[in-house]
Amino acid sequence: MAGINYCLCVTILCTTLLSSSGSSYAQSKEEHKNKLLFVFGDSLFDPGNNQYLNSSRRSPATSWPYGMGLNNHSTGRLSDGLIVPDFIALSARLQVLPPVLQPGVNFSDGANFASAGGGVLDTHIGVMNMGTQLYNFKKVVNMLTKKYGEEETKKILMRSVFLFSLGGNDYFAFNTEYPNSTQAERMAYMRLVVGNLTNGLKEIYAIGGRKIAFQNVGPLGCVPTIKMMYPEFNGSCVRNFMVHGKLHNKALSNALKNLPTKLPGFKYSIFDYYTALEDRIKNPTKYGFKEGYVACCGSGLYNGRNCGGGDDGKQAYNLCSNPSQYVFFDGGHTTEKTNHQLANLIWSGIPNVTGPYNVKQLFDFP
Ligand SMILES: *[C@@H]1O[C@H](CO)[C@@H](O)[C@H](O)[C@H]1NC(C)=O
Ligand SMILES: *[C@@H]1O[C@H](CO)[C@@H](O)[C@H](O)[C@H]1NC(C)=O
Ligand SMILES: *[C@@H]1O[C@H](CO)[C@@H](O)[C@H](O)[C@H]1NC(C)=O
Ligand SMILES: *[C@@H]1O[C@H](CO)[C@@H](O)[C@H](O)[C@H]1NC(C)=O
Ligand SMILES: *[C@@H]1O[C@H](CO)[C@@H](O)[C@H](O)[C@H]1NC(C)=O
Ligand SMILES: *[C@@H]1O[C@H](CO)[C@@H](O)[C@H](O)[C@H]1NC(C)=O
Ligand SMILES: *[C@@H]1O[C@H](CO)[C@@H](O)[C@H](O)[C@H]1NC(C)=O
Repeated sequence: MAGINYCLCVTILCTTLLSSSGSSYAQSKEEHKNKLLFVFGDSLFDPGNNQYLNSSRRSPATSWPYGMGLNNHSTGRLSDGLIVPDFIALSARLQVLPPVLQPGVNFSDGANFASAGGGVLDTHIGVMNMGTQLYNFKKVVNMLTKKYGEEETKKILMRSVFLFSLGGNDYFAFNTEYPNSTQAERMAYMRLVVGNLTNGLKEIYAIGGRKIAFQNVGPLGCVPTIKMMYPEFNGSCVRNFMVHGKLHNKALSNALKNLPTKLPGFKYSIFDYYTALEDRIKNPTKYGFKEGYVACCGSGLYNGRNCGGGDDGKQAYNLCSNPSQYVFFDGGHTTEKTNHQLANLIWSGIPNVTGPYNVKQLFDFP
């Protein structure tokens, strides 16, 4: 375990040095003092929480080739290397957040509650959906309160940033289960998801959180796994999933726009992940990739499944030699290189990509 942390830190140090701009490390550390990062999410943001759940399901990301870019340390991250919240933590001069369920973690820089397969609604069993993630957050708040007292904890939460990636699995589950749903049914489901998500945000606000950052729902119909499941689309993005994601993103944007009037001091950021990822898939060379359609790792059409050997670890799969040429590492998850680009957009993107504030601005607010 200690070895893993050490190796991660080596990568991190290099990344930090490479990405550090103008201001000195010490100064920035001081600026963001006691501004923590709390992460809620699905597989895109999960640093390895699922391996600590009592589930009979195998976590493929705890073995090779996941983590192949981190000196072969498979941490549970569904990528060849680091994921988006890791890069955000580094940009904020915080430590990379370990899984909140990892024994012995402290919360001096925040906590990561994300769980692969997690949704807003209880769409998947055996993983941590939003309700469980909020429950664990409240437990962490209790521990902070014991350490700092109620008043100081509230102040810390007000300064801290809450980063979200949730919703994709809700639409993934609905559209695979009901491929022939009507527009009215899709709308009703979307309202349920956005309503529950908004309620979750209000809970965080009530406890003290003020700065919320979102990655919106991605172009689900364009990921290799979905394209593999619907070969009749001949490799183009599967429509139902795209339409539903767009509906969600519009509703989320409207819901957040209205919150600050009801919740004084509430500030937010939405990163247009949908557009950013779709553009990389369709125009990979524009962003320094060679391949946007086929995943680096996996088998079947577009290498859409079985990276790492699938559910039993025994399935054959292909593996590319250079993940940084690929947008996707496996059928549903991007490479470290893509993650780094996306994280940079979240951190300092301009308002047509990340707005009304970017995450750097959220951290900079007192
Ligand atoms: C998993 O199960 C063990 C033993 O049954 C129990 O002690 C532990 O608390 C459980 N962990 C979680 C995360 O539910
Ligand atoms: C990582 O593991 C693979 C497969 O076991 C091996 O071929 C490779 O040499 C290892 N790389 C490092 C950096 O240890
Ligand atoms: C929290 O854990 C990190 C990583 O293990 C460690 O570097 C840091 O010193 C710890 N902080 C406290 C206050 O124990
Ligand atoms: C979603 O919100 C509805 C209405 O508030 C509530 O009844 C339901 O329990 C929530 N579902 C989940 C999974 O949070
Ligand atoms: C959806 O509609 C298609 C074409 O009408 C039909 O073949 C298929 O069985 C339907 N699927 C479900 C799950 O109802
Ligand atoms: C896929 O290709 C077939 C055969 O060329 C064609 O009939 C069908 O319309 C295409 N489907 C889509 C969604 O473009
Ligand atoms: C955002 O604006 C920049 C500069 O005007 C432009 O290059 C970029 O294409 C825009 N991005 C989107 C997603 O509209």
